[in-house]
Amino acid sequence: MTLSDPEVLISEADIQKRVRELASKISKDYENCGEVVMVGVLKGSFIFLADLSRQLTIPRVIEFIAVSSYGSGSRSSGAVRLVMDVRGNIEGKHVLIIEDIVDTGHTLNYLIGILESHGPASVKTCALVRKAERAEVDVDIDYLGFDIPDKWVVGYGLDYAEENRTLPYIGTITPLD
Ligand code: PRP
Repeated sequence: MTLSDPEVLISEADIQKRVRELASKISKDYENCGEVVMVGVLKGSFIFLADLSRQLTIPRVIEFIAVSSYGSGSRSSGAVRLVMDVRGNIEGKHVLIIEDIVDTGHTLNYLIGILESHGPASVKTCALVRKAERAEVDVDIDYLGFDIPDKWVVGYGLDYAEENRTLPYIGTITPLD
């Protein structure tokens, strides 16, 4: 399949401004809560996590978690599998899940369950973008960057077949054939 070049949907400046706003809100909400464990969902969250975590003014540590969907077309069936759990002990800690995108919601819904099973003090969620039209499960996003239309998006951690993850902006791509 041939794809168009990415067309800017959310500019680098708009992303950076929103990241600063989210960091300020998170820092305020978690003030006096002790250390927050930021759990990045591999791979897509790595750039958002890097930028967001450096803007926080509260104590924080970084963890990663990895999941995969079963086979093709499984995302809509909601079959998610844990590939790598967090490494540190999160019992009694405040956990904030960091996602690049929430699409059907199955991944985030599954991850909340996994992380809650470790006995943390709290689990909250933060996602840079959400495709509200695609939601299949109702999952709370405590900190959301942007709602976006149901288009193929790349950049700022998001890929299409591993391409374009490191674009500084979020762009849309369309099939040309
Ligand atoms: C994306 C994204 C979420 C998930 C959201 O990951 O990072 O984890 O899909 O989809 P859902 O709401 O429909 O469950 P992806 O599978 O593309 O892996 P990647 O982050 O490694 O690119």
